[in-house]
Amino acid sequence: MKQVWIDCDPGHDDALTLLTAIAHPAELSILGISTIGGNQTLEKVTRNAQNVLAFVNADIPLIKGEPGPLTKPLNTAPEAHGDSGMDGPFFQGSNYPLVAENFLQYMYEKMKAAPEKVTIVGLGPLTNIALLLKAFPEIQEKIDCISLMGGGLTHGNITPLAEFNIYVDPEAAQIVFQSGIPIVMAGLDVTETAEITVEEIQSLRKKGKVSNLAYELLNFYNQSGRQFGFVNSPIHDLCALAYLLQPEMFRGEPQAVQVITDDGLARGLTFADKRRNSTLSKNTLVLEAVNRTAFVELLVQALEKLDDLQ
Ligand code: RIB
Ligand code: CA
Repeated sequence: MKQVWIDCDPGHDDALTLLTAIAHPAELSILGISTIGGNQTLEKVTRNAQNVLAFVNADIPLIKGEPGPLTKPLNTAPEAHGDSGMDGPFFQGSNYPLVAENFLQYMYEKMKAAPEKVTIVGLGPLTNIALLLKAFPEIQEKIDCISLMGGGLTHGNITPLAEFNIYVDPEAAQIVFQSGIPIVMAGLDVTETAEITVEEIQSLRKKGKVSNLAYELLNFYNQSGRQFGFVNSPIHDLCALAYLLQPEMFRGEPQAVQVITDDGLARGLTFADKRRNSTLSKNTLVLEAVNRTAFVELLVQALEKLDDLQ
């Protein structure tokens, strides 16, 4: 049983990742979920998280984090996720409760009180996680690993060189990568191959209440992905969680990963120092490949589990 904290910016792939996590209570004890401005504004991504958690009658603490990055204004991604940040499904609107406390203090207390070391799952810009490490350096002793979707060693998506989550807050990302905490990096090199096909998306339709929600999410996300040249849909964020549940479906390599924080074309670029005489710690397991069939099967089975509980 892993004690996990999930930080997210729902976002279609964030939502599918939350559902998959909730479907694995025997493997994951979710201490809490925090939201971060990213795909859309903090208000919108928080409302999206509330809608997803209410949809499956979850009982998990949900708390709003930072509205935006450490040093620059937030640039959202409406072109990818729509004006709501999670266009496609219609939600009745939920009053899923929000924890009304200082989010850093709350995250710290929950992790400090956890019976075992905690795994943080980062699905959006890394602002909240960086602030936690800066505000409470001693919490590092309670963190087993940070499994994050972000970056890439060969290309970007929001720019030719930078991936969106890192690009939104490179300063925060550098704090996290340089913390010395073991990191699992699900970057674009692997996440863009972790895709669900159009046929697999269609097979979710009207299969069950939660499977159909996934269909509605993915149907929008698939259409939206066409503008970026995708035919099938990469479920980026789910890679960071799937590794925790079934690491054997991935192949990866320990690397010393750094982030470019300068302004200019390379801002947000993540790179590995592969020099033979590098003295940097190879604390980041960079995921390079995934068994796509097993990856999709993990999602499908999670949705079926949740369907059976409705
Ligand atoms: O680049 C992909 C990442 O950006 C994913 O986390 C997606 O949700 C968006 O936030
Ligand atoms: Ca995300």
